[in-house]
Amino acid sequence: MSKFEYPKVNQDRLWQRHLDMAKIGGTAGGGVHRLALTDEDIEAHLLLVKWAETHGFTTDLDAIGNMFIRRAGSDPSLPPVASGSHTDTQPFGGRFDGITGVLAAFEALESIHEAGIETRHPLETIVWNNEEGSRFIPACMGSAVYAGVETLEDMQAREDKDGVTMGSCVERLKKSLPQAGTRDIGAPIASFIETHIEQGITLETSGNIIGAVTGMQGYRRFEIHVIGEDAHSGTTPRSRRKDAFVAASDMTHALRELLWDDKDEMRYTIGRFEVLPGGISVVPGQVNFYIDLRYHDTDILNELGNRIPEICRSHAGPCEIKIAEFIKQDPMNFPEAIIASVEEAATRHGFKHQRIYSYAGHDARHAARLCQAGMIFIPCWKGISHNEAERAEPGDIAAAAQVITDMLIDQAV
Ligand code: GLV
Ligand code: MN
Ligand code: MN
Repeated sequence: MSKFEYPKVNQDRLWQRHLDMAKIGGTAGGGVHRLALTDEDIEAHLLLVKWAETHGFTTDLDAIGNMFIRRAGSDPSLPPVASGSHTDTQPFGGRFDGITGVLAAFEALESIHEAGIETRHPLETIVWNNEEGSRFIPACMGSAVYAGVETLEDMQAREDKDGVTMGSCVERLKKSLPQAGTRDIGAPIASFIETHIEQGITLETSGNIIGAVTGMQGYRRFEIHVIGEDAHSGTTPRSRRKDAFVAASDMTHALRELLWDDKDEMRYTIGRFEVLPGGISVVPGQVNFYIDLRYHDTDILNELGNRIPEICRSHAGPCEIKIAEFIKQDPMNFPEAIIASVEEAATRHGFKHQRIYSYAGHDARHAARLCQAGMIFIPCWKGISHNEAERAEPGDIAAAAQVITDMLIDQAV
């Protein structure tokens, strides 16, 4: 328990900030299309900085485009106590995935600031760059570089589909924020807590509004290129075809069988499948597809994931294939102390809560390599996410911001 009263967060302000952010990249379907470090995503960063500057908070950027909004502490030698998430979205994504964690963290900073509470540690809202990984591969890029999971040089060189590099986008972000200071990659962080919509139906079903996240399932992602030969669809008989689509669909069906589990716990997804050259009357000479495989048990994820290349090769027919695994993250657990402090704060305010496991990936995974890290989930309407219809309730978001406020105070005073 802190020697201070815990200030109450401002639910109306927090909700208004969501509405303001949702306009940036807002879609006709009620969602948000704000891919990492596009003009829209940079605008979202600038809006947050504008709000931050009204309180005298400062901003730092690191070399991979992570942004750190700081409220100074009384002891400048101490590392920040931090919370945050991401501002980027999936293509035609929702209004809450990511931004809720940023705005809940920022509301905590504002509430603590307005209450005049002095903390020894600085307090920070972190915006991790490129969490979604839909413009630049891989996902959680900013936090991965910060935690030393990926190298800066490799990630700066990553290109989007138009050949624009991440490094050039980070330079644009820096130019847009000439007032920002520089943060070293990997500079110490005392603790990190991330709020996120659950993206599942556990909380909605139980009626609890706070989930103290215990851990996160692992995932593996593969990029597969199937190379056949373009041919005339009217004149080329089956025996002479090297049809990349036929080979790729055989592979995906065989994988579906391999990865079928009666308990419905294995997550096998092909979310991107490109058929080239894309002519209606051309036997396709190339298919590129991506596998996202997730599971909570490390051994099974290893065993089944390791079989993917062999299954693809054995269904390639006359085509050649190239297969690369570009992300592998094991299932992980958050420290008990952080989980318990989420529960303690939720209990203090009478928020109904429970422990919950994360089936989605989040930046807190990488932050946990650097410091005591954890997550708070709030309900998400019907579990709908990565979808324009994503919805969360103002009161639930405010509850999470309140838990963050308490935790930041407890850790930073
Ligand atoms: C995060 O967006 C994930 O794909 O788990
Ligand atoms: Mn997210
Ligand atoms: Mn997401």
